[in-house]
Amino acid sequence: MKPRVLVTRHVYPATIPILQEHCVVDYQDSHEVLDEARLQKRLQHAHGVVCQLTDPLHAATLAAAPQLRVISQIAVGVDNIDVAAATARRIVVTNTPGVLTEATADLTFALLLAVARRLPEAERFLRAGLWRRWEVDLLCGADVHGRTLGIVGFGRIGQAVARRARGFGMRVLYCNRSAPPADVETGLGALRVPLDLLLRESDFVSLHVPSTADTHHLIGVEQLCAMKRSAFLINTARGAVVDERALIAALEEGLIAGAGLDVFAAEPQVPAELLALPNVVLLPHVGSAVTSVRSLMCALAARDCVAVLTGERPHHAVNPEVL
Ligand code: DGY
Repeated sequence: MKPRVLVTRHVYPATIPILQEHCVVDYQDSHEVLDEARLQKRLQHAHGVVCQLTDPLHAATLAAAPQLRVISQIAVGVDNIDVAAATARRIVVTNTPGVLTEATADLTFALLLAVARRLPEAERFLRAGLWRRWEVDLLCGADVHGRTLGIVGFGRIGQAVARRARGFGMRVLYCNRSAPPADVETGLGALRVPLDLLLRESDFVSLHVPSTADTHHLIGVEQLCAMKRSAFLINTARGAVVDERALIAALEEGLIAGAGLDVFAAEPQVPAELLALPNVVLLPHVGSAVTSVRSLMCALAARDCVAVLTGERPHHAVNPEVL
């Protein structure tokens, strides 16, 4: 008998045939998010689930899915999944790193440039019909070229951001729990420093760590106070990495110059205070939102789901100890 797989939300169409070749697919072809009760009901007899970062896969939901063997997330971040509970139940959790690295690094740089050069503000100004003439001090922003970029988290995406920074003639500092191979550091011209030094020295601080208990509110009051008043914070990682209340206060009090945010603490809610600030660029979690990338992410998740259910090794297991 073929294993049963739940696909929780709308995906790129090519995803479904990959699953159907080996599994019976229960496809919720809608953008609506299943709440925990409905998710539990649909998972009752499922052997696999292809899910998204909006799906709450907490311990209680996993307990209600006694046959579940694999959770395949269409994203790198898995903070919506209780990985410890999955591991305890010997459920393999897979994710989709690699294919979205360059797209996310591009978006990080787009945010950095947008906030430094006040691009959304300038566009709003033009569309509002306020442009009268060229003026020497009209909508002037901050330099990017030659400035210091501090990268917090030097995995695939952090390193891809460092590569872009080199093209902008930036000095690159980074902090990471472990040092990458020496040739990576020299190749990228990046210097590993402690977080407090990175915060003090950087003109732009860009976050690229996963959301875990260790990184929760990694950037809070103390860290924001350590930053230069002229510095910008860029977050394309996860909202929970930043204490959002502390960030709002820092922006309102001018402790830092601005922020570029693609992620928020309670998505899709964006605090009214952030919406009211002119020196903040806000995006709706679109770091990897490139058509080719998103369809690759869907296919990768489907293939890894099939791999586990057919006794093969998946490409990207988050908890390989279960295999
Ligand atoms: C991820 O992969 O975790 C991003 O946030 C969505 O692409």
